[in-house]
Amino acid sequence: MKGIILAGGSATRLYPATICLNKHLLPIYNKPMIYYPLSILMLAGIREVLLISSPRDIEGFRGIFGTGERLGLKFSYAVQPRPNGLAEALIIGEDFIKGDSVCLILGDNIFFGHGLPALLRETVRSMKNQGGAYVFASNVQDPERYGIVEFDSKGVAVSIEEKPKRPKSNWAVTGLYFFDRNAPEIAHAVKPSGRGELEITSVNAKYLGKGALHVKPIGRGFAWFDAGTHDSFLEASKFIATIETRTGYMVGCIEEIAYAKGWITKEALLEIAETLKKTDYGKYLIRAVGGEE
Ligand code: TTP
Repeated sequence: MKGIILAGGSATRLYPATICLNKHLLPIYNKPMIYYPLSILMLAGIREVLLISSPRDIEGFRGIFGTGERLGLKFSYAVQPRPNGLAEALIIGEDFIKGDSVCLILGDNIFFGHGLPALLRETVRSMKNQGGAYVFASNVQDPERYGIVEFDSKGVAVSIEEKPKRPKSNWAVTGLYFFDRNAPEIAHAVKPSGRGELEITSVNAKYLGKGALHVKPIGRGFAWFDAGTHDSFLEASKFIATIETRTGYMVGCIEEIAYAKGWITKEALLEIAETLKKTDYGKYLIRAVGGEE
């Protein structure tokens, strides 16, 4: 399975902070926002990652991740000339996906919850066995802002609508999508919506129509943020700070995950830690491999 992180967009809701800065490079507490979605792909066991961003910002990401080798990953980069919508990621990424299944994650989405790695692994397994599309739904107070899914009494998804005026439920589809090999072809057939975007909801609706959209509600034990507004940005930062301080474990620490997965050696991790040694982040990495600070 391949992984795509979509990290372009216009970020107008974070103006003036993002007038000339890509929001995904801003720190959520102690690390760039982009680390969180990347950590989700890594926890799902994905090592081939395509990062898509705007022509202005793509080099910034290349500067951070390079080839990905330092993390035991293989990174590619592609440009989205304009923020034409989330489904365009599947078109831009078509050659990269190359007939494989793909996990697409939005660069401003942060997930945290006990059992998340197991949920991701289970989803990858289901995808291998059954194909189709797998998305996650979270209960929200402002359903008019999201792709909203309606369930029948058996918990089966029966409709999905983008930013509905009269929402049929409060279950919003989060920015983490698993698609089988048919996704690029489906995305090619999507027509721009009323707001001029290629909507990922249209791709999901197509899978739903074929009876192949699996929607998993994520309940009480999970927190989901899309850090796209000033308030949600701050809320996410405070949440991560609290979790990390109280538990002593980091969230979204990509080097630690790479090491735990056996993708990089202890020596490689300590080399990275050395460059960060003035920070608690660097000290944490050293402790993670039982080294001396
Ligand atoms: P959105 O929330 O749709 O938009 P945005 O946050 O970029 O812009 P604004 O504040 O002006 O509403 O984007 C969700 C995520 O997807 C975000 O991480 C940016 C990314 N994105 C792209 O990379 N390309 C796109 O075409 C769109 C629409 C979003």
